[in-house]
Amino acid sequence: MRSMKRRTFLSLMGAAAVSGSLMLTGCGRSADSDDRKIIRIGHVQSATHPDHLGLEAFAAHINEKLGDKYRVEVYPSELLGSQTEMVQLTQTGAIDFVVASTAIMETFSRQYQIFNLPYLFSSVDAYHAAMEDHEVTDPIFLTTSKAGLETVAWLDAGTRNFYTVKTPINQPSDLKGLKIRVQQSPTNVEMMRLLGGTATPMGFGDVYTALQAGILDGAENNELALTDNGHGDICKYYSYDMHQMVPDLLVANYEFLQGLSAEERAIFDEGFQIVKDTERAAWEDAVAAAKDKAENEQHVNFLYPDTAPFQEAMAPLHGEVLAANPELQPVYDKIQEYNAEYTA
Ligand code: GCU
Repeated sequence: MRSMKRRTFLSLMGAAAVSGSLMLTGCGRSADSDDRKIIRIGHVQSATHPDHLGLEAFAAHINEKLGDKYRVEVYPSELLGSQTEMVQLTQTGAIDFVVASTAIMETFSRQYQIFNLPYLFSSVDAYHAAMEDHEVTDPIFLTTSKAGLETVAWLDAGTRNFYTVKTPINQPSDLKGLKIRVQQSPTNVEMMRLLGGTATPMGFGDVYTALQAGILDGAENNELALTDNGHGDICKYYSYDMHQMVPDLLVANYEFLQGLSAEERAIFDEGFQIVKDTERAAWEDAVAAAKDKAENEQHVNFLYPDTAPFQEAMAPLHGEVLAANPELQPVYDKIQEYNAEYTA
């Protein structure tokens, strides 16, 4: 499946080069005959995923308001490469936007580590309120401009939980010796070390095959990975330890944003809000539908363990990350205010 995607990507780029219709330059401007700039957005999710619905709504908005100058194209399912590769393509301006997880962004700017801390938020309400506060997000989202990237919106990606092929996870010790796929992020690797499992970092698109081949004993993600990505065909235990509430991020090429006029930027900002609103409106139903399908068609068992022992095992990570990045302390403190206001 993966190599098929890559072939699609290569043929897309190859055809573009041959026809000259999508000549990519440093700033991503196309030499289309009608001279409109094609705005390419890549992401890893399926075409029915809430992220994709949000981006389609964004495309419709820009095409309607600025269609004489821009044409937005949304590429789902890792068609333009893995998430890391797409962030790199966005960085160079080969594409204009990518939806990336905070875990992947951590390798571009260490400030993003804060959002990967397990049990950072005490409740969904605390999480959403904190992510809407620029005092929390600006110090992180604006750190990558020198690297050519800027985060323009956060998207709900639910809660991440462990799921396994055959070992039910009821307590941290059940993870001992298991090979668990995590995203390619030092924080996530450390998280698994604290739990006693063996972290196996890899890209999202490789997980299904690795589970099937027995290279992995499990992974961790929200419920949509079971259905949209088929992991529930192989993994029969999904355990709500609730270790992370991590947003997905819409990340833009910095130069592209800088090149917009004030009027255009205002329209793009409206568009970023549309992505968020559309994605959020679809999220809860998508999770409920995924859970229903996983339970009734894929026969996944959902487990509800006591989360306290998991939280205790992973707690040292907060101190470790703050000690290594003292500049994150004010953001961390602000998040604690939201945690106190919106308790579980
Ligand atoms: C979720 C998340 C993605 C991420 C994926 C992963 O699906 O929304 O952004 O890439 O998990 O685990 O890699």
